Amino acid sequence: MTNIHSTTPCLLLDTARMTRNIERMRTRLQSLGVALRPHVKTCKNIDIARQLTAGQPGGITVSTLAEADYFFEHGMTDILYAVGIAPGKLPAVAERMARGMTLRIILDHPQTAKAVAQAAVELGTRFRVLMEIDADGERAGLRADAPELIESANILERAGCHIDGVMVHAGGSYRCKHIEGMRRMAEQERASAVAAAERMRQAGHEVPIISVGSTPTATFADDLTGATEVRAGVHVFQDLVQAGLGVCEIDDIAISVLTEVIGHRTDDGKLLVDAGWMALSRDRGTAEQAVDQGYGLVCDASGKAFDDVIVTGTNQEHGIIGKRDGSPLNLDRFPVGIRLRILPNHACATAAQHNGYWIVDSPEQAQRWLSRCRGW
Ligand SMILES: Cc1ncc(COP(=O)(O)O)c(C=O)c1O
Repeated sequence: MTNIHSTTPCLLLDTARMTRNIERMRTRLQSLGVALRPHVKTCKNIDIARQLTAGQPGGITVSTLAEADYFFEHGMTDILYAVGIAPGKLPAVAERMARGMTLRIILDHPQTAKAVAQAAVELGTRFRVLMEIDADGERAGLRADAPELIESANILERAGCHIDGVMVHAGGSYRCKHIEGMRRMAEQERASAVAAAERMRQAGHEVPIISVGSTPTATFADDLTGATEVRAGVHVFQDLVQAGLGVCEIDDIAISVLTEVIGHRTDDGKLLVDAGWMALSRDRGTAEQAVDQGYGLVCDASGKAFDDVIVTGTNQEHGIIGKRDGSPLNLDRFPVGIRLRILPNHACATAAQHNGYWIVDSPEQAQRWLSRCRGW
């Protein structure tokens, strides 16, 4: 394996920052009396997932079956696959359940419920299902008062499936302009899930799991009464979007992309580096926020951020770095060959571009490598 001194671009992980982020969320959820079921699509690494679940019931949330397989191979059995199930994946889910994985799936449509019911009969599998509830009209889910909720649960029950609960993700929290908005969104998320569960219970379903969460709502929820678990994920690394929302500080961001200066554009006072969108992703999540961070905020090689220097453009393997206000950089400060670090807009998207992390928490660990699982 190459080391961080020979390969750019590469992904760096500051484990001291990560540990602080993990502990902050753990303390917060403990004080609210609710368990964490971390969304491990952010880290996609077993060592980090073990740190996230330490002292917790141990369940995880995943976004792909490849993640489910990877974490199961490493001993994690209680897995929520939190993307609406595609009927074509049901044989793969059944096969994993037969191998001992407690794999739960989610759905939000009676047609999907019928497909799951049919597959349950054909494959002889009692699928474990959480109904997806919509709290904010942002993406997927049934409203808590939708007739299809009970209809779908009844279809599943008749086929012998387990209706294990409800889940909701208030992605609208990412659009909030103030902390008060995220607080309200957290309550909206909690209340929708609890109301949906209540209706299902009245219709005769047990609904043991009420699963809520995003990092912004988990960070600002005042009360999670009724919720049995919270699915935060990006809090493990934090990112510029979270900093822009007020969820964290820039200094909390635990991952960065190490890059090297490969040229100067003297005409407009910009730098060229060897990290383009392949290394940073195309995510522009801060574009709508008060401070637009371009394709990432630039730091020196030690990780100290320049307040006003951002990646202004990306090609596949080129990044263009300039001042946020468009004025020219003092290029003498950035000679060809020096290394910079770039903080990501969206940690999940940037990390997904890489095969693993170089750990940079201490000199003796500077060479340690953690791999990430990939694919679907
Ligand atoms: C269904 C679901 N649950 C939980 C999360 C975690 O939210 P966050 O990334 O804000 O921590 C996500 C993130 O996309 C999600 O899609």
